[in-house]
Amino acid sequence: MHLDTIIPIAMCLAIFIALISFIVLPYINMFLKDSATSKEGDPIPTKNGDIFSILNFDGRIAYEDIIKATEDFDIRYCIGTSSYGSVYRAQLPNGKVVALKKLHQREAQEPAFYKSFRNEVKMLTEIRHKNIVKLHGFCLHRRCKFLIYQYMERGSLICVLRNDDEAVELEWNIRVNVITNISHALSYLHHDCIRPILDRDISSKNILLNLKLEAFVFDFGNSRFLDPYSSNHTVFAGTYGYIAPELTYTIDVTEKCDVYSFGVVALEVLMGTHPGELLTSLSSSPSSLQNVMLSDILDTRLLPPRSKNLTLNIVVAATLALGCLRAKPKSRPTMKFVSQQLVACQRPLLKSFPAISLLELLNSELEMENEIEPLPKLSSRPAEYHGSSFKQNP
Ligand SMILES: *[C@@H]1O[C@H](CO)[C@@H](O)[C@H](O)[C@H]1NC(C)=O
Ligand SMILES: *[C@@H]1O[C@H](CO)[C@@H](O)[C@H](O)[C@H]1NC(C)=O
Ligand SMILES: *[C@@H]1O[C@H](CO)[C@@H](O)[C@H](O)[C@H]1NC(C)=O
Repeated sequence: MHLDTIIPIAMCLAIFIALISFIVLPYINMFLKDSATSKEGDPIPTKNGDIFSILNFDGRIAYEDIIKATEDFDIRYCIGTSSYGSVYRAQLPNGKVVALKKLHQREAQEPAFYKSFRNEVKMLTEIRHKNIVKLHGFCLHRRCKFLIYQYMERGSLICVLRNDDEAVELEWNIRVNVITNISHALSYLHHDCIRPILDRDISSKNILLNLKLEAFVFDFGNSRFLDPYSSNHTVFAGTYGYIAPELTYTIDVTEKCDVYSFGVVALEVLMGTHPGELLTSLSSSPSSLQNVMLSDILDTRLLPPRSKNLTLNIVVAATLALGCLRAKPKSRPTMKFVSQQLVACQRPLLKSFPAISLLELLNSELEMENEIEPLPKLSSRPAEYHGSSFKQNP
C-alpha cells in the first residue's frame, strides 16, 4: 500500500475512534459508577434482612445510603416528631430528598408503638391519593425501624401558621386551597377506599405542605379501617384540641369524629391560630356567637380579602368548617359533601362581608344526605342573606 492511501485511512480511523470514545466513554463511565454504587447499595436489603421494602419508588434506596445520609439518624437531621417517632430529612446519593420516620429504640420495645408503626405501613400500602403523603418504603429491621416518605419542603401547617413571615405567604386563596386539599384526602379515606379509613388524628401538626403550599395528610399511626360489623373500632386516639366532643361520653368513633377535627383545622387555617375558646362557645353557647363576626376572627396578619370571589370562598369555607363543628355528629356534613362544596362554591354573596356573624354561618343550611338538626334560630336578622346557603331552591 502507498503511504498516501495509508495516511488518509489512518486519519479516518483516528477520527472514528475519537468520535466513538466521545460517544461511548461517558456511558462506560456511568456504567462503572453505577456498578460501583450498586456494589455498595445492592447487598443491603438481603444482607440486613427480608423486611426492607420499597414501594413504587423510581430511584434506589439502600439502607446504608439512609444511614449515611442521616449520619446514623443524627439529631441535626431531625425535622420533627410524630405520634411515635422522630422525622428526619435525608438526601439520597441520587439527589432525591426523602423524609424518614424512625421508631425510637426504646419505643420499638413497646408493643403499642410498634403496633401503630406496623399499622401505618399497612394503611399506607393500601392507599394512594394526591393529598396523602406517599410512603416510598419501610425498614422493619431488628436494629432500626423506619418509614420512608415523600419529603414535604414546607413542613407542617402548624409551623407555617406560627411563623409570621410564612403565615403571610399563606394568602387567602392558598388557605382556601389548603382546606380543599385536606377535604379531598379525607373524602377519599371515608368514601372512596374499598374499606373506609378513619384517620383519627387530623390536626395542623399532621398536615404537611410542599413547595407549592399544597396540603397533604400525614401520620397514619392512629388510623383504623372502619369496620361496620365490629362493635369496637374504638381505642382513644387524637390530638388535644381537635377531638370531637362526643368522645368524652362515648367510645364510638365514627367518621364524624374526623369531620369534627377537620372543622377545627379549617377554622385554624382561616384564623391563623387554633380556635380554642371559640370551640367551647360553639358547643356550649352558640347564641353568644351572634356578635362574633367572621371578618373579626380572620387572621389579622393578612389584609382582609378584597375580591368578591375570595370573600365568597372564605365564607363558604367558614360555613363548612362550622358545620363540621356541630355538636351532634349526625348534623355534621360528610367529607364528600364538604369537598364537593369547596370546589363548586359559586353563589352570590348577598350581604356585606363585615356583617356576617358566625351564628348565621352556623345556622345556614347545609343540604346533606344525612338528617339535619339545625340549631334553633336565635337571631332575628332579616332573611335576605343566602350567601352561604347550599339549598338548591332560589
Ligand atoms: C390543592 O387544591 C387546589 C385548589 O383546589 C388545587 O388547585 C391543587 O391542585 C390541589 N393540590 C393538590 C396536590 O391536590
Ligand atoms: C374488641 O377489642 C378487644 C381488645 O382489643 C378484643 O379482644 C376483642 O376481640 C374485640 N372484639 C371485637 C368484636 O372485635
Ligand atoms: C370569579 O368566579 C367566577 C366564577 O367561577 C370566575 O368566572 C371568575 O373568573 C372569577 N374571578 C376572579 C377574579 O377570580
